[in-house]
Amino acid sequence: MFRAKTILFTIVMVAALVLVACAPAAAPAAAPAASGKPFGTAKCAPNCTYKDMTMCFPQLGAESDWRTADTASFKSEATKDGFNLVFSDAQQKQENQISAVRACIQQGVSVIALPPVVEDGWDAVLTEAHNAGIPVIVVDRTVSADPSLYAAHIGSNMELEGNRAAAEFNKAMPNGGSILEISGTTGSGAAVGRSKGIREKLNSNIKILDSQTGNFTRAEALPVMQAFLQKYKAGTDFQGIFFQNDDMGIGALEALKAAGIKPGDLKIVSVDGTRGGFQAMVDGWFIADVECNPLLGPQVADMSLKLMNGQAIDKEVLTNETVYYPDNAAQLLPTRQY
Ligand code: AHR
Repeated sequence: MFRAKTILFTIVMVAALVLVACAPAAAPAAAPAASGKPFGTAKCAPNCTYKDMTMCFPQLGAESDWRTADTASFKSEATKDGFNLVFSDAQQKQENQISAVRACIQQGVSVIALPPVVEDGWDAVLTEAHNAGIPVIVVDRTVSADPSLYAAHIGSNMELEGNRAAAEFNKAMPNGGSILEISGTTGSGAAVGRSKGIREKLNSNIKILDSQTGNFTRAEALPVMQAFLQKYKAGTDFQGIFFQNDDMGIGALEALKAAGIKPGDLKIVSVDGTRGGFQAMVDGWFIADVECNPLLGPQVADMSLKLMNGQAIDKEVLTNETVYYPDNAAQLLPTRQY
């Protein structure tokens, strides 16, 4: 009996030792302090060129014309500069983006340009990239993770865009009234910022009667607008609409037209400044379109090369943007790149 217990004990101990010996080693910690070089510096520094660069770009989806232009901007920049772009489309699902980032870490890319579909939930994968010594540039929308986990953020000031939309309603509705809002993807930096921004600056005599998400797509905004029109009477219950992007505005216009609403009946403000948004201004629907510039590829490529070469970069790079109006929309429309 004693002998059997001893043998069993020995087997368990040997098995445990084998398991420990075979377990994967912990990912190496990033070594900026050990090497004395800034985090993300590549072996080719200080002479890295675009030929040395592999950029991972786990795009969040293809939900809007803005997004299509953003993807094109990265792809054309990669062709122009001659770097390798590892592109994927997460179809607006965070889990797909996380898997794509993990695959890029495995592949040992030079840099990851991450446009996060939502703000929360990035800590673990950003830590993995950091531990692997791969710098992450957060692109377009923001993350709520600790800034020490990523190299920089390049994108728009979404809160300012909301402030600008509010200013347009304040001008257009000096006597006050009510507006509806169709917001973007719930939990996304773009929706959070724009929702906050409009509420900060809207005059107190203008009320947001209702707000529902249209997930930044034409298809999802249409039924939201139809439901609003069942519930509220245009012109009586509400006098304006804030669309948090042009695609949702364009989708919702179908519902407005079907309900017999005419251009000019409502004060409509949108965000992006896409060709579709410009057309809606030309056609008399939108009274203003707050710019959100998707052409981020060149800036992100430039920053990536700097990181590889160990050069200093700015932690926060905000895109310089404006507001577009119907008075010169027809003239500007042919010049729009997206
Ligand atoms: O994050 C930018 C936003 O995402 C754009 O306003 C919108 O069109 C896109 O889907």
